[in-house]
Amino acid sequence: MSVRRLAPKEQQPESFAFTEENLAWAKREITKYPEGRQASAAIAILWRAQEQNAGWVSEAAIRCVADMLDMPLIRMLEIATFYTMFQLQPVGKKAHVQVCGTTPCRLRGAGDLIEVCQSRIHHDPFHLSKDGNFSWEEVECLGACVNAPMVMIWKDTYEDLTKETLGKVLDGFAAGNPPKPGPQNGRQFSAPITGPTTLKETT
Ligand code: FES
Repeated sequence: MSVRRLAPKEQQPESFAFTEENLAWAKREITKYPEGRQASAAIAILWRAQEQNAGWVSEAAIRCVADMLDMPLIRMLEIATFYTMFQLQPVGKKAHVQVCGTTPCRLRGAGDLIEVCQSRIHHDPFHLSKDGNFSWEEVECLGACVNAPMVMIWKDTYEDLTKETLGKVLDGFAAGNPPKPGPQNGRQFSAPITGPTTLKETT
């Protein structure tokens, strides 16, 4: 687990405001919870702020959501810095690659995927590529171990990866034409790659 701190002051925008559309969505989200429990909408609304803010949450965005939910700023800071789904500094414009580095993915080649990220993006995690389009980090299990190794980019997972297929995934994002999420080796969901092995008879 890395140390999670807000981006330095010089990277922080002065202000943050939701677009009209996102503000209306956030207000609807708050109404899902009983009076006095509006803090339950914190993660959903902070996530929307991250999406609007090019994939990361600035201090101003965190403050904006805290004010909206009538929460002490420190509580929203706790949420933003605890959950690795929230990025605390600018990420790649086209893709921020989260490589699962937990045991099943490690045993199935996550180290190779990290090498691809190091050679194509930056040697170190949380650094932007030269063109500013990509960044990467290692994360804990993302719940798709059955199709290890895998990465998550924005909301989608790309699974059953090799060095070559991760390269193709990155090429797709670079060209603005990402591949279909899910297994990248042709298998359907988590079915055996060799086809069905049970319940083959139709009688
Ligand atoms: S260990 Fe990688 S998704 Fe679970």
